[in-house]
Amino acid sequence: MPISIRNGLITIETAGTTYQMKADSLSTLIHTYYGPKIDGADMSPLIVPRDRGFSGNPAEVGMFDKTYSLDTLPLELSSFGDGDYRITGLHAEDAEGARALRFTFKGAKILPGKYSLPGLPAVYADETEAETLEVYMADEAAGIGVTLLYGVLPETDIITRAMIVKNEGKAPVRLLKAASVSLDYVYGDFDLITFHGRHAMERNLTRREVVHGMESVGSVRGMSSHHYNPFAILAEKDTDEMHGRCFGFSFLYSGEFLFETEKDQVDATRVIMGIHPDDFSWELQPGDTFTTPEVMMSMSGEGLGKLSRNFHRAIREHVIRGPWRDRRRPVLINNWEATYFDFDGKKLLEIADTAASCGLDLFVLDDGWFGKRNLDDSSLGDWAPNEEKLGMSLKALGEAIREKGLMFGIWVEPEGLSVNSDLYRQHPDWAVAVPGRNPELSRHQLILDLSRQDVQDHILARLIAIVREGGISYIKWDLNRSISGKYSAHLPKERQGEFSHRYVLGVYRVLEMLLAEFPDLLIEGCCGGGGRFDAGMLYYTPQIWCSDNTDAVNRLSIQYGTSFGYPTSAMGAHVSAVPNHQTGRNTPMKTRAITAMAGTFGYELDITKMSEAELDEIRSEVGLFRELNELIRTGDYYRLSAPKDVCTVWENVSRDGAEALLSGVWHGIEANSPVFYVRPQGLVPDALYEVSSCDADGGRPMYRMSGAALMNGGVACLMPDREYDSFLIRMKRA
Ligand code: DGJ
Repeated sequence: MPISIRNGLITIETAGTTYQMKADSLSTLIHTYYGPKIDGADMSPLIVPRDRGFSGNPAEVGMFDKTYSLDTLPLELSSFGDGDYRITGLHAEDAEGARALRFTFKGAKILPGKYSLPGLPAVYADETEAETLEVYMADEAAGIGVTLLYGVLPETDIITRAMIVKNEGKAPVRLLKAASVSLDYVYGDFDLITFHGRHAMERNLTRREVVHGMESVGSVRGMSSHHYNPFAILAEKDTDEMHGRCFGFSFLYSGEFLFETEKDQVDATRVIMGIHPDDFSWELQPGDTFTTPEVMMSMSGEGLGKLSRNFHRAIREHVIRGPWRDRRRPVLINNWEATYFDFDGKKLLEIADTAASCGLDLFVLDDGWFGKRNLDDSSLGDWAPNEEKLGMSLKALGEAIREKGLMFGIWVEPEGLSVNSDLYRQHPDWAVAVPGRNPELSRHQLILDLSRQDVQDHILARLIAIVREGGISYIKWDLNRSISGKYSAHLPKERQGEFSHRYVLGVYRVLEMLLAEFPDLLIEGCCGGGGRFDAGMLYYTPQIWCSDNTDAVNRLSIQYGTSFGYPTSAMGAHVSAVPNHQTGRNTPMKTRAITAMAGTFGYELDITKMSEAELDEIRSEVGLFRELNELIRTGDYYRLSAPKDVCTVWENVSRDGAEALLSGVWHGIEANSPVFYVRPQGLVPDALYEVSSCDADGGRPMYRMSGAALMNGGVACLMPDREYDSFLIRMKRA
């Protein structure tokens, strides 16, 4: 059993890690350990209280023990205002305006299976796969009770955390900060690894030392954002891909978040992650509860590669739901970079026709099919097909596409609202806007107030109608601006601080109800590319368009950064035209295909303009991807080199180690360059592998070697013939 409770000592064990807490004699819940698996020992001797000036002592011990301070103890639940001066996870104001909290341990319970969170995404697992720990804490003076929730999935070394705050008093309480996790490390020199970016250049890795002081990344944009991803890693200083201790934190939440660290006066480090408090407050009337979203944590003692694989597996098997979890995803063609807004039904059917002749599975009609939308300046909200532009009904278009043997998918931006739209003219109060203030426009648009149930119901009804009419199998759910001027005409003054979270809950509700109506529907998340690429969204949308940047070389960095927290099967990736529309760069077709195969794979270019030879190349690529799909989608993923090297190489290995694929792209070509070597991982040491080059037009056997020889000796990467050349090397058990 992964969880045990013995006289106030609570120990959680996963396959490779231990997490522990202990209630002390004052009923303070001390965090005693999180790290590689130990033998169940009580780790509390690691906590060495000392008298620290200006770190006060609770009244219960004050006169007798100056070493006991909430300011220096590692705490399982950190709260603001009563002796803990570090960054803290829970802030609240009582009816008198006081902001001082201190919680004590009241009890704990183990439950079979993994808890779920009403209205929120959460890791799911059955009773054979997981256990839940509930820990009860209370601040009687403030009248607040807290249930700390832990979900334990031993096999993947995953521990989740969330919290339910309850007003157990007789007067209202206002929550000001309710983080999902607060975690203390009593010692250690750490690096903080985070993923920053911008539109069309998401998830670049930053690694810096955690020094004394506070450090944070977060979003107040209404979404998790292109700018900072809600996934972060704390790694001991010399941790690399294969060695060292590291801790990952993935927020299952698509709204505003804050990830904070503080290295304190005694060199201890605290991590806090949760909803961003700047834009948050929540009224709790007596008896009311507030449930935080969930953070998924994992720890690896074997470097960053293992940590990523823990998250990949957990997301693939315990976050992504529905029939598409285990199904091969359709190879799609999307018309956006082929036509932008300039298309009619005839053009779309020509694209679909050629796509069908290349063996693709799904045709996706992107932006511009509804209202009067021929540019990005109108019609969001008017979700009725523009039959004049299409030259036919959506139903007829869907039928024509299906007749060609393709599934039909469509783009929508349900949260968007154009100023120039009938919906805005009819319901100006449905826009997110502060009364008396001219709203900020972005891409000419506003945001629909999805914190309101009437608006949610309206948009859901429209989506259901579209899916029915078009016989739609796939939706690309886009969002194309950050949210400012956050205010809902529907909320009273004292509840405006609830807007941002209620908005996210509204988005989740619409997604959940849409999926309930069409369980087979595949939804691809999108937010101007990867502006809402988070584990919360993946609960509803098994794949997310990784970036609006389709340049194969830039994609290497974007997908590399994304791979730290998210699996390949979640990353939308397409082959697009050259010169690339975002960068003007020319890359070989093969390189574009290999890069897109490290994702869900599809095409986004005008294939009607391609030569028969180019179409043949597409046919072979589609055939090859079909063959490799299972391995890429379900296998283990290894980063063998990084975009800062001359060649980015990654590896997919089948779960039984019988087959592996090395993919590589050269981007630092020099005259007379040294040979570039990588060491494959994850092979069976004493098995013999047939090593061959693997091309869309066939493979070429190269040599045979044991797994041990390959993993220790390495593989010489096939040298480039031209700039941005690429290769696939296959290793199959002979
Ligand atoms: C942004 C998306 O990321 C693009 O792929 C495309 O769908 C456009 N929006 C359409 O407006």
